[in-house]
Parts: sequence; structure tokens; C-alpha cells
Amino acid sequence: MYRDVSSCNTYDYGDAHYWDARYIQESGSFDWYQRYSDLKPFLRHCIPLSSRILMVGCGNAVISEDMVKDGYEEIINIDISSVAIDMMRRKYEHIPQLKYMQMDVRDMSFFSDESFDGVIDKGTLDSLMCGTDAPISASQMLAEVCRLLKPGGTYMLITYGDPKVRMPHLSKSVYNWKITLYNIPRPGFHKPECSTSSKKSLLEPIPLTENGLLPADWVLEDPDSHFIYVCRKINDTNGDIYLDTN
Ligand SMILES: C[S@@+](CC[C@H](N)C(=O)[O-])C[C@H]1O[C@@H](n2cnc3c(N)ncnc32)[C@H](O)[C@@H]1O
Repeated sequence: MYRDVSSCNTYDYGDAHYWDARYIQESGSFDWYQRYSDLKPFLRHCIPLSSRILMVGCGNAVISEDMVKDGYEEIINIDISSVAIDMMRRKYEHIPQLKYMQMDVRDMSFFSDESFDGVIDKGTLDSLMCGTDAPISASQMLAEVCRLLKPGGTYMLITYGDPKVRMPHLSKSVYNWKITLYNIPRPGFHKPECSTSSKKSLLEPIPLTENGLLPADWVLEDPDSHFIYVCRKINDTNGDIYLDTN
């Protein structure tokens, strides 16, 4: 169940042909990194059930179906792969809460400004970061995500990327996001028996430093864990960067 693009050993993850070929071979379903059951506490905490949600780079993941089963009312799913989108559209034609559209996340001009309450990204910025022109692709994507979010809306990024590599992209003042960071172990990870760490709730945010980095003494029990960046679009134009440092 757990796949990782952290090694970035191929530029192909940013390429539509690569994904089309892959989805032709893998016609079932697969959720990268985490499934809804593990993400549910974060999603329910940050994105209300009545939200209009955009799932970017949906692939053939089951998360959107599981969210609808749990009460989410409207999820529009996009992916650059027409193979994935055709497959998913057929699979879910009986579920009116789910829509599927082929689209490049770097150009979502089909949608008007401030038309979504929530944007969910599980592994898609990561894929772009592995492609050619990664920094340009990342800023095109994030500018589009920001444009589509209503004030007060939330971009939830589920990624292997730690703050050192993701915050330079996310914390640009132009986005005006208040960023809260969480960490979640990979599925099936068992704490070593000798672990002395306190039993913290997963829903307790990581206290970022003023520069948006992990505190120097922060220990990741699972080195292959995932980070969840909750970026809330705030309605304030003074250009400050908001980090959750508590
Ligand atoms: C690592 S997979 C994650 C799939 C799914 N979100 C999940 O959690 O299982 C990355 C997905 O991003 C899609 N993708 C890559 N580049 C894209 C782009 N520029 N626009 C839209 N989707 C893209 C790929 O087709 C692929 O389905």
C-alpha cells in the first residue's frame, strides 16, 4: 500500500505519458502514502463535510470514494492522465458527489477564482517536484491552488517532503497561507519497543521554528513518515507569513 516518490529517481513523475502508461498497466486502484481511514481525523478537523473540494492529481485512488461514504458532498477530481480520468469516470458514474476531469494542475483556468473551500493534494506536488523544471511547475501549481481557494479555504498537502524542502515553496508571502504542520507515520509502522517518546496525539501540530523549520531537537520516530501541511488562506493583505509556531 505504501509507495514513495521521495527518491525522485526518475523525472517521469512529472510527465503525463509516464502516468498514462502506468495507469494502462495498473487498472485497479491504489492510494499513495496513506488511505482515508488514517487521514480522516485531519480531514474532518480541517475541511467541513459541506465543502466544495478539489482533489488534485487524483490518480486511481479510493480516497474520494471513501470521503463521500463518510459524508463529503462534492469532490471534483482532476488528473493530467486521461487514462486515469476515463477509468475513474466510468467507475464512479453512479456517485453524483464525484466528478472527474482531465486537467493539468499548473493551468486550472477552467475554474473561476475562489471557487473551492478545500484543495487536497496527496503526492501530486511531490510528482511535479520530481519532474523537469520542478520549481517553475511547483509555483505554477501553487499559484493556481491559491487562486481557486476561497478566503478561509484550506489546501491540504500530504507529502514525504519535510519543511526544509517544502516550506520555501509554500511560505511565499503572495499566497498568504497560515501553515500548520502535522506528521503521520507510514501505514503499518510500529514504534520500536524501546521508544521513550511521549504519547502525543497525531493531531497535535509540530511547533515550527520562526523560519518554518522543524525544531532542532525534533525526533521523527518513523524516518519514512509523511507530513501534512494544512495551508489556510487568510483574508489579510499585509503580506505577513503565518506559521503555526505553537
Ligand atoms: C503520486 S500519484 C498520487 C495519486 C493519488 N493522489 C493518490 O494519492 O494515490 C501523482 C498523481 O499526480 C498526477 N499528476 C502528475 N502531474 C500532474 C499535473 N501536472 N497535473 C495534474 N495531475 C498530475 C499523476 O497522473 C498521478 O496520478
